Amino acid sequence: MKRQLEDAGEIEYDKRGKGTPVVFLHAFPLSNAMWHAQIELLAKEFKVIAPNARGVGGTSPFSGAPSVEQMAHDLALLLGDMNLAQPVILCGLSMGGYVALAFARMYPQRLSALILSDTQAAPDSPEARDKREENIEFARTHEPSEFFERMLPDLLGETTHTTRRALVEKVRQMMQDTPVSSAALVQLLEALRDRPDATPHLEKIKVPTLVMVGYEDTITPPQSGHLLAHYIPNAQIQLIPQAGHLTNLERPQEFNRRLQAFIRAL
Ligand code: MLT
Repeated sequence: MKRQLEDAGEIEYDKRGKGTPVVFLHAFPLSNAMWHAQIELLAKEFKVIAPNARGVGGTSPFSGAPSVEQMAHDLALLLGDMNLAQPVILCGLSMGGYVALAFARMYPQRLSALILSDTQAAPDSPEARDKREENIEFARTHEPSEFFERMLPDLLGETTHTTRRALVEKVRQMMQDTPVSSAALVQLLEALRDRPDATPHLEKIKVPTLVMVGYEDTITPPQSGHLLAHYIPNAQIQLIPQAGHLTNLERPQEFNRRLQAFIRAL
């Protein structure tokens, strides 16, 4: 589905089911397709909404400076356009988590619960920033398919790489199918690079929060999750064994069980 929004251009999203709204925000460099298993599961009980980020699929690329705040604003516009006055349960993984944290700061009254998976509040460290610049340069000068191959090793955990070949191939294919241009990848990387430090705002989050992290996540390691859970009042943390950065894809049953239990208990 697609909606034309005044100052956001078009936003493409998936929407299923009825009831309390649950929103899924995807990681980089993927699309809302990464949430397929979670959408299938929750659409039986909830209204599930999963938009594509700027420049991904049918969602318009950034027209101004790329930022996670703009993506949080896009979500607010989308919910407004859908006449969804009810606060949403918001689940974001990695980049989706950065956007979810921006949304929690900018639109606290529109939020009823938060699930932050494999993400962090801190901005890029100097080393991460150097790597970010290298990735921006690489994305600028290569095809998206080459960029995806460069990203894949870090996105999955050691156990997945060594024991789940079919899953590695599935994720590789999912990435290769991400409908995104090199220019859009560069813009999203710039938004990630320029994201502000969300740490000072964590203590103001008043909604129930679940933090989930793969034990083997090397991009946003368990320590990042522990910090989120430490500063967000009433947050609980669940570490997912034998998963790297893409926990919902690497351990879907473990992820879904915890997600569903958390949401049902709200
Ligand atoms: C993601 O998975 O969304 C990205 O790895 C986040 C990042 O690079 O900071």
